[in-house]
Amino acid sequence: MALTFHPLHALFVAEAGPLDLTQVRDEATLDQIRAGMDQYGVLVFHDQPFTDAEHLAFAQRFDGELHAKTGISTLTKNKFGNEALTDISNLDENGDILDTDDRRRMYQLGNRLWHTDASFQDPPGRYSMLHAKIVPPVGADTEFADMRAAYDALPEDLQGQLEGLQAHHSIAYSRQTLGFEFSAEEAEKLKGAVHPLIRTIPGSGRKSTYLASHAFMIIGWPVPEGRLMLRDLIDHGTQPQFVYRHHWRVGDLVIWDNRATMHRGRPFEDRKYRRDLRRVTTLDLPRPVLSERKGAEAAVGA
Ligand code: OGA
Ligand code: MN
Repeated sequence: MALTFHPLHALFVAEAGPLDLTQVRDEATLDQIRAGMDQYGVLVFHDQPFTDAEHLAFAQRFDGELHAKTGISTLTKNKFGNEALTDISNLDENGDILDTDDRRRMYQLGNRLWHTDASFQDPPGRYSMLHAKIVPPVGADTEFADMRAAYDALPEDLQGQLEGLQAHHSIAYSRQTLGFEFSAEEAEKLKGAVHPLIRTIPGSGRKSTYLASHAFMIIGWPVPEGRLMLRDLIDHGTQPQFVYRHHWRVGDLVIWDNRATMHRGRPFEDRKYRRDLRRVTTLDLPRPVLSERKGAEAAVGA
């Protein structure tokens, strides 16, 4: 059946389908989805029956190498035994809801800050693919903001001023703003990475403000001045006209371009309702050619 995109917002985000992504292997269809990502920045696929292995395999077919140096991996062992599969749930290894003051819960609360995935690493994240296994009967939504539209709406003189600047991103910083404490050893592993503040996304040629709550300074600027500018840019880019709110259904796979968008989780009664989502993120590296990808997929396969 032909793949179609149905826009869900005036600026970005589309519902894509009908497709069972576990079965999509041909380059022509994968290219159509990539083109959709360049146009919309966020794609929503409903009713995806992924197992964890199929989720990992699809991410590699679609976009190449996987991000495995997550922030949480410095704190705790991955529940699934694979650091490329990030646990976005409020459940422990027995499926029980995490205690109020569980350190994993405290750390995950940082996802409620506006951010892009893996901007504290180099290479950073490109596409994130979040799959919903269990969703609460209440909100527990995720919001996305279009950083291309946000860039386009900046005054021209400010666009000029920002060109060529770089920001330092650290996940330890964004967590510390919430009062989360790291040991010296953990902090040492989470020093972060430096990335351009303005990015051009190759597939669309569009520019975006590459921001996250992880960004704590602009290189070469006095720290407070950089921090104020970053804060202003996040405030600007997350105004209601740039924001789409996703209400999850079980089986949804949402793919977003971390170069073009920011996102954040919304609060819900996470001590009362179970929520189980799993994320795979690819690295912003040149996409390997098909033959190289086949080998990589076999390696993760099981
Ligand atoms: C993520 C994330 C927010 C949410 O998966 O990267 O930030 O709503 N999730 O769970
Ligand atoms: Mn995230």
